[in-house]
Amino acid sequence: MTQERISLLNGKHIVLGVTGSIAAYKAADLASKLTQAGALVDTILTGAAQRFVTPLTFQALTGRPAYTSMWESAEGLPAHIPHIGLGEGADLMIIAPATAHTIARLAHGLADDLLAVTALAARCPLIVAPAMDGAMYAHPATQANLAALVAHGVHVIVPDEGRFASGLEGRGRLPEVPVLLGHIRRLLGRGGPLAGRQVIVTAGGTRERLDPVRHLTNRSSGKQGYALAQAALDAGADVVLISAAQHLTPPVGAQVIAVESAEEMRAAVLDAADAADALIMAAAVADFKPAQAAAQKIKKGDDPDAALTLTLARTPDILLDVKARRAQTGRPRVVIGFAAESENLLANAREKLARKGLDLIVANDISAPDAGFEVDTNRVTLLDAQGGQQPYELASKAAVAEIVIGWLARAVS
Ligand code: CTP
Repeated sequence: MTQERISLLNGKHIVLGVTGSIAAYKAADLASKLTQAGALVDTILTGAAQRFVTPLTFQALTGRPAYTSMWESAEGLPAHIPHIGLGEGADLMIIAPATAHTIARLAHGLADDLLAVTALAARCPLIVAPAMDGAMYAHPATQANLAALVAHGVHVIVPDEGRFASGLEGRGRLPEVPVLLGHIRRLLGRGGPLAGRQVIVTAGGTRERLDPVRHLTNRSSGKQGYALAQAALDAGADVVLISAAQHLTPPVGAQVIAVESAEEMRAAVLDAADAADALIMAAAVADFKPAQAAAQKIKKGDDPDAALTLTLARTPDILLDVKARRAQTGRPRVVIGFAAESENLLANAREKLARKGLDLIVANDISAPDAGFEVDTNRVTLLDAQGGQQPYELASKAAVAEIVIGWLARAVS
């Protein structure tokens, strides 16, 4: 799937510093993903980086020059000297991968090549993503240098644990590109329209236990909820993601609370509600659960004609409980629900908006194959408590998330 533009990254100037680590190949992918998202990426390679990847790799992926020397000319930059020009025009600088040597140079303010000089001169936020052997990363010298960078206001990404190219194991691996992108988004989103606001997002289909090996659930993947969490982070919010989704990577910066059943989700939502500015209930909460979960696995027995009858009981309606709570506390200030309907979309959605005391409901027609469950697109209409109604064309779940978060930002401003 081709990546679509990400509003937060579109048109942003990003300086990507690459140093001499085997993980430099991931920097090429990062440059590509940033460019596809709409960012303007200028790459600086150290001498050692060029032993692993070439400037041409980055030029080809970004469509922009890649720099290797302090002494080359840089036409079109806001200053004659490339290190000042690159840093001055940038919205963000990221050094990924950053070797122990470059981290040491930065910690001490050395300015002995274009990368180090640019990092020193840059006024924009700086992210450093260390990548090295586990013993080098754990060494007190490296840790002291990283602590110095943090004290200087640098955002340091903690490397992953795992296997190195050497075959050894430990902490020091460069995180995967989506994680690096997540850190970049988190930093660029700071100060956005939802800065200082706490937003709860629920996602995924709850699972209601039948016996130790089975549960009842639904087709919700959690993708729309995760996209909403990411869009809220992009807008600068503090996000609590209460998730019943199982196979999705949470966005960087979200506080994730994993839940299974409707009852667990209800408890987590009510727990977080009093501190929240907004709640977005994107989860597909099961309406019924097995009346009694069996302690042992239910056996089918020998009779081939046997039928099994399940008795189901109602689960709590989380939004109704939030409505009652909100009547006392006034929190969350804004509550948004979803209505996934297969018929009478707008009438059903408006009835739910009123009954559940919502400020906004996102009505989602799941009768079309390209909208709703398990796909990457949705076709939604926003209905608000004042009677407003706004239909949207088929859009990616990320784009739908931006629409909803845009509405929320206006509602809480
Ligand atoms: N919801 C909830 N608690 C439930 C069921 C749903 O809080 N037990 C929330 C959903 O997260 C969603 C909204 O209520 O934001 C509407 O969910 P939906 O399943 O469409 O509606 P239901 O209340 O289940 O109504 P119906 O069974 O009539 O479709």
